[in-house]
Amino acid sequence: MAGKLETRNNIVLIGFMGTGKTTAGRLLAERTGRTFVDLDEEIERLLGMPVSAIFAQYGESFFREQEQQIIRQIICRSNIVFATGGGAVLLEENIRNLQQCGLIITLKCQPEVIIKRIVGDTAVRPLLNRENRLQVITELLQERCSRYETANFCIDTSLISTDEVVKKMEDLITIWKDSILLAKSI
Ligand code: S3P
Repeated sequence: MAGKLETRNNIVLIGFMGTGKTTAGRLLAERTGRTFVDLDEEIERLLGMPVSAIFAQYGESFFREQEQQIIRQIICRSNIVFATGGGAVLLEENIRNLQQCGLIITLKCQPEVIIKRIVGDTAVRPLLNRENRLQVITELLQERCSRYETANFCIDTSLISTDEVVKKMEDLITIWKDSILLAKSI
């Protein structure tokens, strides 16, 4: 198992909307020579429409099915940074598949900061296209926190820059690789 992870060399980012998965993931991929893959972008490309239109036209459960299918395909790839959508962890099968894929890092963030970050960005986040956003965010976070806790590591991005987030991720990757080498040598 450890050897398999080392060979695949993938980094998976999970966490709530607005925590910086796409921005930090893209930079991490650039810095570490991996290919960046964004789950929402893959779904949008496949269906030829923005996430908000998919939700409006086909509903959330259809969107979740697309997430499930695409995760099944993407986990077969190697040397990627894979940024998932905030709700991708809702399905247990997805969590199991992502765990097979590589190192999982959760990005987390204070709800008040999330609100500031997602302003004007509702095309990807129809679930937050509501008046009482803070309440919606708090409730969704409560529902999902145990899922986000399934990651190997967690980084709070509330008060740090993208650059700092990426540096922390690089440190965690080193720790992860060292632990694989150690496990192999025992
Ligand atoms: C969702 C998060 C979004 C997108 C969709 C649903 C969620 O992705 O997949 O709007 O349920 O948390 P980001 O986490 O990249 O914003």
